[in-house]
This record gives sequence, C-alpha cells and structure tokens, in this order.
Amino acid sequence: MLTEPRTDASAAATVSAELALAAPTRLSIRGVSKSFAGRRGPVQALAGIDLDVAEGQFLCLLGPSGCGKSTLLALVAGLDFPDCGEIHTDGHRVTGPGRDRMVMFQESALFPWRTALGNVLFGLELKPGLTRAARREVARYYLDLVGLTRFAHAAIHELSGGMRQRVALARALAPNPSVLLMDEPFGALDAMTREKLYGDLQAIWSQRRKTILFVTHNVREACVLADRVAVMSPHPGRIVQVFDVALPRPRDINSERVAALASRITATLAGSLPTETRR
Ligand SMILES: Nc1ncnc2c1ncn2[C@@H]1O[C@H](COP(=O)(O)OP(=O)(O)OP(=O)(O)O)[C@@H](O)[C@H]1O
Ligand SMILES: [Mg+2]
Repeated sequence: MLTEPRTDASAAATVSAELALAAPTRLSIRGVSKSFAGRRGPVQALAGIDLDVAEGQFLCLLGPSGCGKSTLLALVAGLDFPDCGEIHTDGHRVTGPGRDRMVMFQESALFPWRTALGNVLFGLELKPGLTRAARREVARYYLDLVGLTRFAHAAIHELSGGMRQRVALARALAPNPSVLLMDEPFGALDAMTREKLYGDLQAIWSQRRKTILFVTHNVREACVLADRVAVMSPHPGRIVQVFDVALPRPRDINSERVAALASRITATLAGSLPTETRR
C-alpha cells in the first residue's frame, strides 16, 4: 500500500513536537551500593547512597577522585547495575540505558569521521517517525542553541576543545532527554572557556528545563551551576552533606557570594577526607 507523501505542514508539526519541552523527571536513588573486584580484593565504590533530584533541578555531585561519582552516574545512566538499592526516574526503575537519560563525558567522545552536524544527528537516527529533513532541522536547532550555527559542516579536528564539548552537549540534548548526566564535561578546558560555558549551560538549562546530575571535583564550578551540591567522601563513596545553593542566576564564578559558599563546602570536603589524606 502506498503511503501519502508528507505535507510541509505535517513535517513542521513533527519537528515542533520533537522540539517541545520534555517534562523534567524526578530522580530517586535509594540505598544504592556498588563494589568492584579489585586486584587486592573488593573495592567498595559506593555505600548506602540515598539521593533525590527534583524535576528540573540541577544537582552537582562533588567529591575527590575515587569517591564514586562516575560510578553513581553510570548506575543512573543504566550502563552498570547496583549491588543493592534502586534507582527510579518518575517511579520507573532504571534497568538499562534509555534516551530519557543522556550522558556527556569529560572527553567529548565525538565521532571523528562525522561533521559537527553529523554527530548531533547521531542521537536522532534511531528516532522513529522522523524524516531525514526533520532530523536535520532538529539537529540544527541544537547546534544553534550551543552557538555553533556556523560550524555545522566543520570536521571535529577543526574544532577547539570548547567547541567539541558544545557539539557533545548538542548531541546529548538532541534526543530531548528529560535527564542530562554530565561527568566533568568541562574538566579538560581552560578557565576562560569554562566560564563562558557555565553561562551558556545555565541559559540552556533554563530554556530546556532538564533535570541535571553533574559530576565535578571543582567546588566553585558546583557553586556556580547547582541548585544543590551533594558532597561525597571516598572509601567507601558516601554522601556526607547536601548544600542548597540559593544564589540568584546567572552566577559569576568570581563573585563574593560564590566564593563564600565555596569555602564552606571546601571545609566540609576537607573534614570528610580520611585523616591520612588531609593536608
Ligand atoms: N570497573 C571498575 N573496576 C574496578 N574498580 C573500579 C571500576 N570502576 C571504578 N572502580 C573503583 O571504584 C572507585 C570509584 O571510582 P569512580 O571512577 O566512580 O570515582 P570518581 O569519583 O569518578 O573519580 P574521578 O574524580 O577520579 O573521576 C575507585 O576506587 C575506582 O578504583
Ligand atoms: Mg570520575
């Protein structure tokens, strides 16, 4: 049976439905523990993690290297599984990866054989019901959103580190997830590029209303971005304190209020380290 060719109006309706805001999700982590088999016996990466992230909230997981931040993010992404405990998004148990939870890593992990646009298109290729033209329109919307309109056809090696992370952000946003999981996405960038991205990420987050779980070990970064900062301690990874950040946005990393909060959090972090690692 022949199907009717799509009209321009129906194609435009598909694109605008695709770009409609996804209702942000509530994230709930209950009693989650995780250990790995290390060479010298089991490593308890996480122990008894309880954490809630409200719909549309920006939560930073902050802690020293090895405290289990990436492990927790991978569990929420469904890339690995807890030994015990449960993770739910809006009451649905996480049992594997899903397009509702997109991940962005420190290294952009872009496909070097694709252009910037080609990378953003990647996440849309398996989306049912989108024509090729509609996918391109959606991908271009997200490239515009991250400020790379002019670089759609650039090869990845032609882009700076900051521009690559922008492409990675557009690629993560393109499937319209309700949760964005970010693992030190700006960790490899210089301070000036990072500061520009803090402003842009805050603007994009307020425009697209995502629930964000953002991993960092940079205290000021957490204070600039987060609604709440969950401070973790290592061996085993636990949440020692959660700070509410009530500062108005957009926030300036060099402001006195950000600095004051950062020193309070730094004191908590220092106090939570095992004595032999304190200086
Ligand atoms: N696949 C694995 N096999 C064995 N041990 C692991 C594995 N993944 C993580 N670990 C261990 O679990 C602990 C937590 O690691 P994780 O990568 O989550 O820390 P992190 O807080 O993200 O650190 P960083 O800030 O350095 O990225 C560490 O002790 C690490 O060695
Ligand atoms: Mg990590």
